[in-house]
Amino acid sequence: MDIKITNAHIITATDAYKGEIGIRNGKIAVISRKLSEKADKIIDAKGKYVFPGAIDIHTHLDMPFMGETSSDDFKTGTIAAAFGGTTALVDFAIQGKGMSLRDAFDTWSAKAKGKAVIDYGFHVAICDLNDKVLDEIPEMVKAGITSFKCFLAYKGALMIDDGALFRILKQANRYGALVMIHAENGDIIDILVSDMIKNGKTAPKYHALSRPPEAEGEATGRGIAVAQMAGAPIYIVHLTCREALEKVVASRDAGFPTFAETCPQYLLLSYKNYEEPNFNGAKYVMSPPVRSREDQAALWKALKTGDLQVVSTDHCPFNFKGQKELGRDDFSKIPNGAPGIENRVSLMFSEGVGKKRLSLNRFVEIVSTAPAKLFGMFPEKGTIAVGSDADLVIFDPKKPFTISAKTNHQNVDYTPYEGFKGKGVVETVLSGGRVVVEDGKMLAQPGSGRFIKRKPSKKGLM
Ligand code: URP
Ligand code: ZN
Ligand code: ZN
Repeated sequence: MDIKITNAHIITATDAYKGEIGIRNGKIAVISRKLSEKADKIIDAKGKYVFPGAIDIHTHLDMPFMGETSSDDFKTGTIAAAFGGTTALVDFAIQGKGMSLRDAFDTWSAKAKGKAVIDYGFHVAICDLNDKVLDEIPEMVKAGITSFKCFLAYKGALMIDDGALFRILKQANRYGALVMIHAENGDIIDILVSDMIKNGKTAPKYHALSRPPEAEGEATGRGIAVAQMAGAPIYIVHLTCREALEKVVASRDAGFPTFAETCPQYLLLSYKNYEEPNFNGAKYVMSPPVRSREDQAALWKALKTGDLQVVSTDHCPFNFKGQKELGRDDFSKIPNGAPGIENRVSLMFSEGVGKKRLSLNRFVEIVSTAPAKLFGMFPEKGTIAVGSDADLVIFDPKKPFTISAKTNHQNVDYTPYEGFKGKGVVETVLSGGRVVVEDGKMLAQPGSGRFIKRKPSKKGLM
């Protein structure tokens, strides 16, 4: 045996039991109440939980956006992810105008090559559709890209129209791939933004006021309706508000395969953050914007009941100095996005399990198992079972934490969670049977993370 984890309190999406885990050749080889076999390394997990490694299926590493590039690349971003208990991520490869899907895939593969310390996959965002591009979808699925993203916002940049969405949904579904949408009405928002700027409303809070929840609710309902007409499943990314949630719930209740994620920022931050003095509100400029306390409560409830299936981060960091600052005189020039890859697991445990909003099993399901199932990585990832990848987190549920940009590993000069306190800290992290984090140190070499050739999504959740 290569590694043996003893005295573990093993938690999956369905089980909680005491046992020991034996790891060989990067995989879980045996799970038993007590393991008698010898191992090269023994990790004593007494008093700790052992979870399947968390999976973040919504990140933007090294992404050019709004004239800037997100400040974490595949080295710093995956190191931060690992410190936070995330052992796999799926990033967005963005198809530029005139590019093929293969170009997008190759470009993002080159960004990750030699850098990632954890396993990674890609969704391709289709931003410029034509017949040739549509024909590339089966080839992408074969290559392990089994999900595609469409933006219904960012007019003039990433946005596509409903006809293109319909064609992509039909073609993706034909090959077992899942389509994800950024659901905001880009046409209306475009007008609201220019009206605000014309009227001298330039402060960060107007970013939120120019992207009302109704614009998200409308686009969510429209995306779902288009998916229903295409006879395809759909996944809504970064859902923030009741207007959008109602559309998801209605569709699911009617029996359609509709799925949605939210992110910690929408559960924990609110519009008030935009009113912080000294342009601090820019730190929370992301799309959609953070909403109200009532929306937060509705999202927590939906995570508990299953109306929302996943919590990912939408990690898209831009430094306050030199990047966010570009919008001091005009909120529409603030690069959209915020960091979060490192803090998701502790925040969701502390705010979710610790505050009795989620059970321990549901927490594991939301941060690991459901993303693995929906995005074609289960059962290799997302669970603790014989034969699964040894992607594991040893977690101290009692240890307190205080989040700070100073102690985070993310390559960005702030965190929207500065000063957040809670309980539950990632202690040791294994990825593919390699110990990547131990005693607060990064042990993995850049480039040791592998590309995940994903399968068509597991329809187990559908
Ligand atoms: O503001 C955000 N969310 N930036 C990243 C791009 C996206 O829309 O996901
Ligand atoms: Zn988005
Ligand atoms: Zn995003």
